[in-house]
Amino acid sequence: MKLLLIGSGGREHALAWALAKSPKLTKLYAAPGNAGIAKLAELSDLDVSDHEAVIEFCRRKEIDLVVVGPEAPLVAGLVDDLEDAGIKTFGPRKAPAQLEGSKAFTKGVCDEAGIPTAGYGRFDTADAALAYVREKGAPIVVKADGLAAGKGVVVAMTPDEAEAAVNACFEGSFGAAGAEVVIEEFLEGEEASFFVLSDGTNALPLATAQDHKRAYDGDEGPNTGGMGAYSPAPVLTAPLVDDVMKRIIEPTISTLAKRGTPFKGVLYAGLMMTADGPKLIEYNTRFGDPECQVLMMRLKSDFLELILASVEGRLDKVSADWREDPALTVVMAAKGYPGSYEKGTEIKGLDQLSADDLEVFHAGTKEDGGRILANGGRVLNVTAFGRTVGEAQKKAYDAVSRIDWPEGFCRTDIGWRAIARETQG
Ligand code: AMP
Ligand code: GLY
Repeated sequence: MKLLLIGSGGREHALAWALAKSPKLTKLYAAPGNAGIAKLAELSDLDVSDHEAVIEFCRRKEIDLVVVGPEAPLVAGLVDDLEDAGIKTFGPRKAPAQLEGSKAFTKGVCDEAGIPTAGYGRFDTADAALAYVREKGAPIVVKADGLAAGKGVVVAMTPDEAEAAVNACFEGSFGAAGAEVVIEEFLEGEEASFFVLSDGTNALPLATAQDHKRAYDGDEGPNTGGMGAYSPAPVLTAPLVDDVMKRIIEPTISTLAKRGTPFKGVLYAGLMMTADGPKLIEYNTRFGDPECQVLMMRLKSDFLELILASVEGRLDKVSADWREDPALTVVMAAKGYPGSYEKGTEIKGLDQLSADDLEVFHAGTKEDGGRILANGGRVLNVTAFGRTVGEAQKKAYDAVSRIDWPEGFCRTDIGWRAIARETQG
């Protein structure tokens, strides 16, 4: 099969790596890709926001399946346009991608299906939102409704912070994404992520993971796209996974099917393990980045077979097998990320890193005359297996120490929650 993969992050390098292992794959294209993906795929500078151009590319290259990595093209309706042109595509159409594109939409699905989530109000004027904040007090969580690149959520510990967040939204800090605001009850507990594949009717559980969203050690500093992850997440035990499937995932899939907008693709549930059991914090409609990197490391089944089963509506006929060993990934980012950072600095030492149970997935990199240059905020994902999370962490950081990139940094404590459990127990 000939495939086109859309995206350029560490997630897409991991997807390309998993797809490249399938005997079914004959040719992989990627748009725009990165220096790591370039080793597995032919890169194209196709403008993916120009849907007609993507359709034309697929026809010219006789693409059998398009795999969409990031959320923006999903919310922009790329899948709708490709499918309507007769091109098979992995990922949800625009209407069900509203699970990620609009927090108010997701709350509406939760209400309709009785899904456990934080209590909330939704507002399209600042006055009404501020009155709600005054009534409820703090801590409270203020969310811009639309896509805001992970920056639209403020967990306010004081009423003043909450009011400032409401005002920022309505003053246009997040553009159209902040025209409506969802204000939520603060949930206490440990967070974990859970991934499933759906074909619109069936849901196939994939795996659990835990991300590290803050920039610095000890979960300090600004929020980022994710500084490291591991899978599985021990906090999400098998009985809790069953509970999440029954009370959160299956009702979501059946509600969207009932509405005539079935969800096909990857559903990523951000969960809070509260004293009352798991509650949904948010949905994403694609793999997490960097969670995908650890999931693809652990996946033993043919990934292309699994996504074909999602596209073709036969997920009830397949199963996903996983390595039991945990995988852990450390994100190396350009100094300054998530604020401003330099591009074009050289990264050395990647060639001598090949080892069993170790993969370095590229994110923001580009190749220039044989040199690898940093080309984004998050740049590399150093990913390893171990018999324990502690062992995987050690292998990953050993590899990090052999990468020569003075302009980069990483957290030094990825995996700390799971490792604390291992050492206690
Ligand atoms: P979201 O973009 O909705 O995932 O929110 C980003 C982060 O804000 C989450 O990963 C949580 O750490 C935090 N958060 C969001 N909603 C809540 C909530 N209701 N209670 C506590 N923390 C929250
Ligand atoms: N790592 C968080 C995300 O992909 O949304």
